[in-house]
Amino acid sequence: MSDFFSLGFGKTEAELDIPSLPVRGRMPEWLSGTLLRNGPGTFEVGGQHYRHWFDGLAMLHKFSFQNGNVSYANKFLRNRSYAEAKAQGRIAFSEFAADPCRGLFGRAMAVFRPDITDSAKVSIAQLAGQVMALAETPIQVAFDPQTLETAGVFQYEKNRVGQMTTVHPHLDESRREAYNVVTRYNAVSFYNIHSVSNTGKMQRIGSVPVTKPAYMHSFGMTQNYFILAEFPLVVNPIDLLLWLKPYIENFRWEPQRGTRIWLVHRGTGEVAAQYDTEAFFAFHHVNAFEQGDEVVLDIAAYEDASIIQSYYLDKIKDAKSELPFGNLRRYRLPLKAGKTRGIKVTYETISDACMELPHFDYANYNLRADYRYVYSISIDEKRRQGFYNQLVKVDIQTRETKTWTEENCYPGEPIFVPKPDRMTEDDGVILSVVLDAKRGTSFLLVLNATTFEEISRAEIPQPVLIGYHGIYLPEKENA
Ligand SMILES: [Fe+2]
Repeated sequence: MSDFFSLGFGKTEAELDIPSLPVRGRMPEWLSGTLLRNGPGTFEVGGQHYRHWFDGLAMLHKFSFQNGNVSYANKFLRNRSYAEAKAQGRIAFSEFAADPCRGLFGRAMAVFRPDITDSAKVSIAQLAGQVMALAETPIQVAFDPQTLETAGVFQYEKNRVGQMTTVHPHLDESRREAYNVVTRYNAVSFYNIHSVSNTGKMQRIGSVPVTKPAYMHSFGMTQNYFILAEFPLVVNPIDLLLWLKPYIENFRWEPQRGTRIWLVHRGTGEVAAQYDTEAFFAFHHVNAFEQGDEVVLDIAAYEDASIIQSYYLDKIKDAKSELPFGNLRRYRLPLKAGKTRGIKVTYETISDACMELPHFDYANYNLRADYRYVYSISIDEKRRQGFYNQLVKVDIQTRETKTWTEENCYPGEPIFVPKPDRMTEDDGVILSVVLDAKRGTSFLLVLNATTFEEISRAEIPQPVLIGYHGIYLPEKENA
């Protein structure tokens, strides 16, 4: 386990550019495109260490597939956080759970100044016509998907005072517009929903006022509604303004509030309904759709927000620690409940399998009631200690699960890529970057998405730190 920790949460040995990785098995000939991944590139700056899995400096990874060949490159995002870390040899910007040592005055100003990190390391999406590295902080960073060179920055609002955003924008059916929720912290705070066109034009669609805003990592969308799940992990905005603690440590778990779910109409921007349910927490909405008189919401849910504590590096380092399990839950939200506020709802657990970084075929099955498969990283019930040690596929229809696991291996987010002319939803492959603690290196795993059996793996000559999210761009979109 200690090997795993130093390999997965240390620092990246080198920036590489390898035209052809050695492959065990055969890469599918039809796989033609680029997998881009984002995550931390180092947890050490000078002699200083970051404290949490969500800290660290952003590093991009690129795997390009063509005619059975796979190339690999990795590069730090060249932003101010990186430049300052290099120049000063110390952590210079506030991260999720890290704050540079500064006096009270400096801290008090942090949320209002750009010293909050611009290290956009959490996710990747096509936004405003560009490929962007996404952060929960106000600054999103555009980069060239061919060279991984940093190309510019993007902000949801010109005045970036006190805003935080989700790293999981939704795309409209035409793929011409993206939507995201941006939280503005103030005496009265707001969850603002924005649209961003592929030419970069922004519009505010709707706003939900809130006294104590919740930490919100993603949101849901159906044909007619946005779904905001407001977990009771909330902050008094004054605490963020004072910034006496790192960002996330200002939030408090207040389970007596329960979890509130807001439906905001996509057309009018008005709140259509608000639901109450018992307290739970989630990072990731999975899918949502409308069915009859209901909105159905699938989400990777936890009993509480202790998962955030479990991702502190000292906890991960402890080989005996066990991560709380998130499970795939389904909430049904009635659209004709007779009232529009305080509607009580409950849930059904779709699978007991531990689920985090859930993924499904978003491009083709988002909003669809007939979607069937969810893929995620997971923990083997029989080996609960340590970190995510398996991949899982959940069949929502049959409730069956399939798993992939290998001794001392730690897989990252699984990305589904459909086969051209596929016949079924799961006809394709799963791509996942796996840290192999036995060998001290990582590999790109290719699974048959139907059987969940290995097709091939491409070996990277160094370990890849445990990352978060990525995107697959088929060849035609990446040309
Ligand atoms: Fe995420």
